Amino acid sequence: MKKLKVGIVGIGKISGIYLENLTGMFSDAVEVTALADLVPERATEAAEKYGIPEALSVEKLVASGNVELVLNLTIPNAHFDVCMKAVEAGKHTYVEKPLCITREEATRLLETAEKRGVRVGCAPDTFLGAGIQTCRKLIDDGWIGTPVAATAFMMGHGHESWHPDPEFYYKVGGGPMFDMGPYYLTALVNLMGPVARLSGSAKKTFETRLITSEPKKGTVIDVDVPTHVVGVMDFASGAVGTIITSFDIWGHTLPRIEIYGTEGSLSVPDPNTFGGPIKVRRSSAPEWSDIPLAYGYSENSRGLGVADIARAVAGNTDHRASGKLAYHVLELMHGFHDASSSGTYYAVQSTCDRPEALPMTR
Ligand SMILES: NC(=O)c1ccc[n+]([C@@H]2O[C@H](COP(=O)([O-])OP(=O)(O)OC[C@H]3O[C@@H](n4cnc5c(N)ncnc54)[C@H](O)[C@@H]3O)[C@@H](O)[C@H]2O)c1
Repeated sequence: MKKLKVGIVGIGKISGIYLENLTGMFSDAVEVTALADLVPERATEAAEKYGIPEALSVEKLVASGNVELVLNLTIPNAHFDVCMKAVEAGKHTYVEKPLCITREEATRLLETAEKRGVRVGCAPDTFLGAGIQTCRKLIDDGWIGTPVAATAFMMGHGHESWHPDPEFYYKVGGGPMFDMGPYYLTALVNLMGPVARLSGSAKKTFETRLITSEPKKGTVIDVDVPTHVVGVMDFASGAVGTIITSFDIWGHTLPRIEIYGTEGSLSVPDPNTFGGPIKVRRSSAPEWSDIPLAYGYSENSRGLGVADIARAVAGNTDHRASGKLAYHVLELMHGFHDASSSGTYYAVQSTCDRPEALPMTR
């Protein structure tokens, strides 16, 4: 297979695992040819560490004849600009979540990419991991009958105790829904299909946050966005889902994701990971049973979505972590906030197919 040449923009915290995996487990599908960051030393140092041929400016990387896909690992506020530069230069792009901050930007990006005949992909790719793919097979094979409801809970106390530069989590484009919602909603859409209508309630509990991690320890962040966001979803299939994402909670005992069907219940693993555990309780059984993982990629396989685009480009097929799926998820996340502000249901405009399941042999 011809390798896809990838240039990475944004060499911060998350870039390490991408660099490790793209130059390691996915090196059959992609070749990382260049790195760029607003802080040039970050690109230079990482290029040296991972043996990447070039550290360039963003402009030079995007224009480079040695880059076919721009992997955008910048902060949410820069996602649109960097992706637009890439697609306008005729390059495929794959961006960390969320796709863009606004629906309007995301629409412009996808329309421009379509006109230029290039692909847009978006994180998360955890739904391609062994855990969620095994859950998908269990549902598709009828283990819990017809899914009728789902719950999803991501609750914690924010990122200021560990992230080196956590301010963006409390600014527009951040907050628990835009930060963690993509994992949970992408998993749900992959398992249950698209959402047609939703409602939501959102609140900001604390006006400021104190950074306790290095190197910005002691800095106070003004919180600009809701930090506890609750949503109810009507899936197009007729199933009903409940989601809570929060940065305001010190502890809880709720599951990550559960799917309830006419014939049983499915306990889905943390959608921010690639592995298990998976449990099923069928109507005929008194207890939950552990289900072994039936697919590959159970370890931290970030970059799997990029490898999937590379394989799709080579085979002229659809890639799974697509811009269309990410747009639907972006609209859901905005919808919860809009419904909360307006006090009404939000009718979801976008839709998408469930991405094709991965083959079990991979
Ligand atoms: N940190 C995590 O654990 C994590 C996990 C999953 C996803 N993500 C996502 O990954 C993305 C990056 O997060 P991070 O934690 O690595 O952030 P970070 O702040 O550690 O790194 C971002 C990097 O992008 C660079 N950058 C910003 N704007 C740029 C621009 N316009 N051009 C070039 N470089 C630019 C910054 O200089 C920085 O080096 C975010 O979208 C985030 O949601 C992060």
